[in-house]
Amino acid sequence: MKIFVVDDEKNQRELLAGYFNEKGYKALALNGFNEIKTLLDKGNAPDIVISDMRLGEKDGFDVLKIVKDYTGKEIYFIMVTAYGSIENAVKAMKMGAYDYITKPVNLDELLIKVNNIKESINLKDDFNKLNKKLDNIIENDIFIAESNSSKHIVDLIKRAAETNYPVLITGETGVGKEVAAQAIHKLSNRSKSPFIAVNSAALPKELVEAELFGSERGAYTGSTSRRRGKFEEASGGTLFLDEIGEMPVDVQSKILRAIETGKIARIGGNNEIAIDTRIIAATNRNIEKEIENNNFREDLYYRLNVIRIEIPPLRERPEDIIALAKYFIKKEFSDRFNSVNEGFYNALLKKEWRGNARELLNYVRRYFILPVEQLKEAEKGFLSLKEVEDQYIRRVMKFTGGNINKAASILGVHRNTLSKRIKDLK
Ligand SMILES: Nc1ncnc2c1ncn2[C@@H]1O[C@H](COP(=O)(O)OP(=O)(O)O)[C@@H](O)[C@H]1O
Ligand SMILES: [Mg+2]
Repeated sequence: MKIFVVDDEKNQRELLAGYFNEKGYKALALNGFNEIKTLLDKGNAPDIVISDMRLGEKDGFDVLKIVKDYTGKEIYFIMVTAYGSIENAVKAMKMGAYDYITKPVNLDELLIKVNNIKESINLKDDFNKLNKKLDNIIENDIFIAESNSSKHIVDLIKRAAETNYPVLITGETGVGKEVAAQAIHKLSNRSKSPFIAVNSAALPKELVEAELFGSERGAYTGSTSRRRGKFEEASGGTLFLDEIGEMPVDVQSKILRAIETGKIARIGGNNEIAIDTRIIAATNRNIEKEIENNNFREDLYYRLNVIRIEIPPLRERPEDIIALAKYFIKKEFSDRFNSVNEGFYNALLKKEWRGNARELLNYVRRYFILPVEQLKEAEKGFLSLKEVEDQYIRRVMKFTGGNINKAASILGVHRNTLSKRIKDLK
């Protein structure tokens, strides 16, 4: 954190700069307006400026103005004014100074101000970083991953994206199997071609086959025209076979053939059609058990299981809960994103999330959309009045550097009242 100390009195500027260098800052002592201008001209920008009001020909206002002009960003400027010249201080604040301090400078007091600035800058940095990260993820729809197990999944997604092998994704409902499949597609060189999802569980048995492979005209009663199947539609791209555990066993063998030969035939058709379709399958069932029970063909399993991605339940990776919640809020309620308090997020960690990320998403939607529900649920995230007071007391004590008299005066309570509260806190 860089500080420019501007003063035309050598002793004063060197004292201040020396003091802040000792405290871990990078402080430069600058002699008046021209020296700071030279540095700014060279593109050397400070985080904080502490400038004396009186500087010979130019004054602190000139410094404030040039700093503002040059850096363009929000600048933390502290004006040092003579004792009693409060109108200058007020004017400086109006011009955008962050704070002022009167002479003779009390170093402890100045250090508190500067430390507070450092804290705000760091907080803002963290926040911007998080924001950028989320924006990037939202833009690219990549799998949110904060926990180690999810980071491992992202690695697998990236590796899978570099190949054309089939992928089998397993995990409970709502863990993000479809997001993972889409991420593989988007990161692969098939991303310009379609990603097509077929959910076998949602289709009547008789239709699954026609849906996947298509049909020629008159192939069955009611088929009045030729229809392409999803294998064909997804050619060049990715076919996502969701809930493959629900697939009828006879259709399973046709899928196996399609994968093995790279060809399909429409129902009622004799021609074989070459396809270039990447298969990603998903199931929430224990597929190995399904094989034992003869509900799933072992040979198809081996074909699909070339790359296996097992997504654990959300409750086994709590680090992802808050990250996902932030992601959902940012994505769907971005105008409210900044106003959500930590209490809300902390409350999320106490829930089981049997429905995994999908349940969390619906919870977030309910919370922001339904006012009654919102109030009820919010209670769990709110702090009690005493907790809020305790936090606030801590903050003010930190601000005053532990000075009880000052803190009591800021809080508008008697020193003894505050002392007692502080004792309770410890
Ligand atoms: N890691 C993740 N990153 C971003 N969104 C996720 C993630 N995991 C789940 N979701 C979201 O949660 C919901 C359920 O995910 P989905 O992929 O449909 O689960 P599944 O297919 O396993 O039932 C979707 O809205 C999805 O966007
Ligand atoms: Mg799904």
